[in-house]
Amino acid sequence: MHCTRKVLDDLIWVGADDRRLACFEGVYGVPDGVSYNSYLLLDEKTVLFDTVDKAVYEVFFENVAYALGGRKLDYLVISHMEPDHAATIESLLLRYPDVRIICNAKIQTMLSQFFHLDFAGRIELVKEGDTFSTGRHNLTFVMAPMVHWPEVMMTYDLTDKILWSADAFGTFGALNGRLFNDEADFFVEDINEARRYYTNIVGKYGPQVQNVLKKAAALEIAYVCPLHGYVWRSHFGDFLEKYLQWSSYTPEEQSVMLAYASVYGHTANAANILAAMLVERGVKVRMYDTSVTPASYIVSDAFRCSHLVFAATTYNAGVFVTMEQLLHDLAAHNLQKRKVALIENGSWAAASGKAMREILASCKNIEYFEEGVSLKSALAVGQEAQLEALADAIAAEINPKPVVEEAPAAVEGPNFLTDVDNKAFQKFTYGVEVLTTRVDGKDYGCIINTAGQVAAGDPKKITISCIKKNNTCDMVKLAGKFNISILTEDAPYSLFQRFGFQSGRDVDKFADVEWTERTKNGIRYIPQYTNAVLSCEVVSSEDLETQVLYVANVVEAKVLSSAPSCTYAYYHAHIKPKKNPAPEPKECWICRVCGFVFEGAEMPEDFVCPLCKHGKEEFEHVIPEVKVKQKGYVCKICGHFEPCDGELPEDYDCPICHHGREDFEPAEQ
Ligand code: FEO
Repeated sequence: MHCTRKVLDDLIWVGADDRRLACFEGVYGVPDGVSYNSYLLLDEKTVLFDTVDKAVYEVFFENVAYALGGRKLDYLVISHMEPDHAATIESLLLRYPDVRIICNAKIQTMLSQFFHLDFAGRIELVKEGDTFSTGRHNLTFVMAPMVHWPEVMMTYDLTDKILWSADAFGTFGALNGRLFNDEADFFVEDINEARRYYTNIVGKYGPQVQNVLKKAAALEIAYVCPLHGYVWRSHFGDFLEKYLQWSSYTPEEQSVMLAYASVYGHTANAANILAAMLVERGVKVRMYDTSVTPASYIVSDAFRCSHLVFAATTYNAGVFVTMEQLLHDLAAHNLQKRKVALIENGSWAAASGKAMREILASCKNIEYFEEGVSLKSALAVGQEAQLEALADAIAAEINPKPVVEEAPAAVEGPNFLTDVDNKAFQKFTYGVEVLTTRVDGKDYGCIINTAGQVAAGDPKKITISCIKKNNTCDMVKLAGKFNISILTEDAPYSLFQRFGFQSGRDVDKFADVEWTERTKNGIRYIPQYTNAVLSCEVVSSEDLETQVLYVANVVEAKVLSSAPSCTYAYYHAHIKPKKNPAPEPKECWICRVCGFVFEGAEMPEDFVCPLCKHGKEEFEHVIPEVKVKQKGYVCKICGHFEPCDGELPEDYDCPICHHGREDFEPAEQ
């Protein structure tokens, strides 16, 4: 029986979960299963995006037939030829013999390698930037070599802003009925499996992932549809930020990943003593026995933690086998930019320390603590001091003691320029609300974060303050009444753009909205993405120079939902899109075959690509444009950049959100 879910009215998820797979790719245990995602677009043309692993082919074909509803399948877009997505292509072609294939030239080559079929006349080749219309939807193609194989491409829908991202932004774990990221507690329950998926599957190809992230940063994205895991329709910026860290080998946290290999427990004993010393010094430790925990979990935490400790016994005049495998795995995954400490053990000729260093020699930017420890069979009496010294050295880097600055000499009276730290005000907890009012039959509204109850007796009183330059501020004065709609955490950024980043003097902020609800006072409120509305009558006002403070009686109030209120901090952390810190472009050579980047101006004549083994002739020399950065100020509220060489004028206000110059900070663009 089919089991499908709608992504949008005309886009159906037709994939399937597999919870019986022991090892993904034959090596990575997946105790929580894995999903194989495939999507069917029902436009004037019908388009299937990838197929699935052969393990779930039965329900997949039932899903496709059900979702097609009797229509014929016109196109198959292939983004990746790895068999967990491509194994059922041949069966698909047998069932839908008229289907045409959209793919790139490298995928075409691999099709013929995997399937001995005649594909002549049924393939439409595309390359970077090509477009394809399916009716209402206009697709364009983005090449993504080495994310995770060289042939990988993504598809972007210019109409509904959908990115089919291939393996990128996937995760281990079955979907279990959920499809969207916001149907799961992703950053609590799924982030560890997402990290393990990324680091083990794609971790080696950080520079290639960075290249694709740069392309993705230029796209407006409403939905991300990966080949594994959840469809992203909110808070994607938070996940993108994780990808930026992982692909640049930047630690997520200042902490220690301690892995040990011990045969009879003496090396484990030293590792446990060190872990206890670190924790006593306030250091977070993630600890593993390499003989027990599969390497993929340890690799994942090595990408997560800033500092790594490896403790291993000597074995066959080298390093114990499970540690040897782990270190080779870390080197193969290109781990870099870490500080490492080594503990070796050997009853007659300790050699594991040297062997561990040799394996990690191919990793870039690895530094070592001088305070290594060498055990002879077991920790000797008095040798604890060496572990103490190592714990001190690690803790000093992770938890450096704060520099105590000398207190400034006392001065008479407040100096508002130096005594008032604006950041202190960010420690208050503010909600975010839509303030609405109505004058002469016209509706007005703006975003505020200043509403609060100030009297609990009857009538209850609240205050709001409103920027004077905002049109709504004047309108509240004229109307003498207003509504406050309290926004919830699921409020989309577009709502903030509608009410916060444009002026009611220029546009009707209620144009094109579907909801028309009003409270008894005749004023509109926001029924979606809110949890309460309060209707208020102004009883007094106070001029605060830049703002007007209104005190008002609450005359009607009702709860609209149980969703948590959006705080000002939550808006900044999770709703306001984050700018991708695009890496500075450097002169380099890029492999046209697999996308490998060789950094530097000169490439040796005999250079061979370490990924695809092609020679220098396949590399394109890329010399970045020299861009002159412009000085100015950026609005912390809406992101507007104002070019300016000196100081912003005192009466300057943001042309987008009308906040004053106190909400701007120096920036260069
Ligand atoms: Fe999910 Fe690279 O295959």
